[in-house]
Amino acid sequence: MIDLHSHILHNIDDGTRSLQEAVALARAAVADGVTIMAATPHGASSVSTWTRYEVDLARKRLAEVRAALAHEEVPLQLISGTEIYGEPGALERLQAGALLPYETGRAVLVEFPLHITPQAAEQIIFGFQLAGYRVVLAHPERYHFVLRDPNTLLPMIERGIVMQLTCDALLGVQGSRMKMLGELMVQHGLVQILATDAHGLHLGRVPNLGAARIRVAQLVSEQLADALTRLHPEAILADAPLTPMPPSRIRNWDGSRYA
Ligand SMILES: [Fe+2]
Repeated sequence: MIDLHSHILHNIDDGTRSLQEAVALARAAVADGVTIMAATPHGASSVSTWTRYEVDLARKRLAEVRAALAHEEVPLQLISGTEIYGEPGALERLQAGALLPYETGRAVLVEFPLHITPQAAEQIIFGFQLAGYRVVLAHPERYHFVLRDPNTLLPMIERGIVMQLTCDALLGVQGSRMKMLGELMVQHGLVQILATDAHGLHLGRVPNLGAARIRVAQLVSEQLADALTRLHPEAILADAPLTPMPPSRIRNWDGSRYA
């Protein structure tokens, strides 16, 4: 399996706090069946309390973790990336080399403040798309507009935005409402990839792609489980087309409590 969202790099954001923790996270991912993991530290210029991202530091941490994995013979291929904070200037920083896209392919992982409007998110995403990047939207299930009405994602999916559901949401780690939303999103084709967003054992945010994969196979099919955890991430890293399940409207979600 391929995990395209993690905070495995140590001492750069709220992810792992030491090289040892990073190696432990990698070992847990390998035991879970992951062969390729993208290291995607938070890259934000406007919110500095939880990240001290500098591209040189990200490269240095990546080299340190790769060397440790090679030395300890942990068979995990680590690739670079950034969880880009969707803010004005983000595209320019990416183009200037101050943020790392996924190491292969031409794709970026983008997150937004949770209260963003769909219009504001789309405007920033379109900028990336116009510049030739495929956009993977990090944890769509957390945005307030999605909690109010998950069908807001339908036109975004039609415009090629890849929705990354976080395993914790689907598995109930974030509560029963989030689990219900995650399940509905999977069943209605509103998810194109699963990822862990693992931050490290200290936060209890651990590799659990295998369990989420099993849940998708139970909910829909083995074929979809394979697509969300292997085929689609592979296509993103190869700049190849996805063959997603056709999305459909969710009719039984009560978002009024989030209005
Ligand atoms: Fe993240």
